[in-house]
Amino acid sequence: MMLEFAGIKFKNPVVIASSPLTSKIKWLMEAEKHGAAAVSTKLTFIKQPFYGKLRMHNNIKLSSIVCYDRRLDLEEGLRLVEEAKKKTNLIIFSNITHDNEDMDGWALLAKEFENAGADIIEANMVCPNVGLSTKSIKGQEALGAGEFGGAVTGQDPQRVRNVIKTLKESVKIPVVAKLTPNVADIGYMVRVCQEAGADGVCLAGAQSSLPLVDIYNDGKPEYHLLNGVSHGSLGGPACLNMAFSQVAQAATKSSLPIIGGGGLETAEQCIMMMMWGATLVTMCTSVMWYGWEVVDRIVRGMEEYLEKQGLTYQDIIGKSLKYLRPSHQLEALEGWPEVDLDKCIGCGRCAKPGHCDAIEMVDDKPVITPDRCLGCGICIALCPTKALTMHYE
Ligand SMILES: Cc1cc2nc3c(=O)[nH]c(=O)nc-3n(C[C@H](O)[C@H](O)[C@H](O)COP(=O)(O)O)c2cc1C
Repeated sequence: MMLEFAGIKFKNPVVIASSPLTSKIKWLMEAEKHGAAAVSTKLTFIKQPFYGKLRMHNNIKLSSIVCYDRRLDLEEGLRLVEEAKKKTNLIIFSNITHDNEDMDGWALLAKEFENAGADIIEANMVCPNVGLSTKSIKGQEALGAGEFGGAVTGQDPQRVRNVIKTLKESVKIPVVAKLTPNVADIGYMVRVCQEAGADGVCLAGAQSSLPLVDIYNDGKPEYHLLNGVSHGSLGGPACLNMAFSQVAQAATKSSLPIIGGGGLETAEQCIMMMMWGATLVTMCTSVMWYGWEVVDRIVRGMEEYLEKQGLTYQDIIGKSLKYLRPSHQLEALEGWPEVDLDKCIGCGRCAKPGHCDAIEMVDDKPVITPDRCLGCGICIALCPTKALTMHYE
């Protein structure tokens, strides 16, 4: 089942996000083998400002934070795209950034990648490791040459506008802005991109983050093989709900097509991201943690869902947006939890929430007083056997 993004046909909505997964031809071929429609190649500079190595904090099931990584220099990036175009049928996004104030570098990168065969330019205005990590510690005044890459550009509407305009004047292929979530109003930044002529936006986590620290070892941040830490890029499940909000803001405040990502691990989550307004979905941490089979499961799961529901990809994009309204226009419905005693194992978790006196355990079974119920639904979420359901008045 095909779908279209920025005038290009995709066999499905799955894009492997720019990361170590997209830094070598070997991995791009894996991406295609496991069913992805597209990849965004690893961030490329004309010349990267420093030669990092992959160092990640991994709090499995919660978050990944990358604060140091090996990027590509222009020649490496171009060879990768050329090889990918020869050896795969993937749609190639070229993820680029320029770390100085001038616009010429952006133009050069975009033209070179277009000539190498890239299908779409993805302007990286998201990475917090190249510039924002300085700004976050020392303050704006410390920013100088080599510190304007990634999120620093993405935080400045005037620069975002200039970059998009420059890229659009430089190449014929579509231009997508991958935007930092570290801004006050993502909807505004997306509108800036639209006004400047962008063909789409990518909103995919990567907010500036810090890891857990070892409280028994001098507060040392939990990274292997690294002597310190900088504010890094957040990935993994911790991003998911925030990403839904970002995508929905973009979808309601502009008409640009959106690539949504951050925390995606399952087909169901990808469908939800599309229901909040994304046309394409992108993932990185889940594939790094659990392997390429994640991609097979996502692609197959989405297709099975659509077939069973009699829907197309197009049908699900933005489906949930009709439920969005300002808080003051929401209306609370009344009700209370009911218990199925055959399913209840008497664990008492439902009676524990600190703010609630609607449930008491009597002879190891919950007894519910409906008029004390505040309606939070926590008891239902906590129940390990799904013995509680909400009764609506
Ligand atoms: C190790 C690592 C390297 C990354 N490198 C890049 C990059 O080069 N360019 C980019 O735009 N995003 C990069 N990202 C961010 C991801 O593309 C993605 O937007 C983010 O991790 C959120 O998605 P996830 O929760 O699926 O990981 C990187 C993420 C990780 C974990």
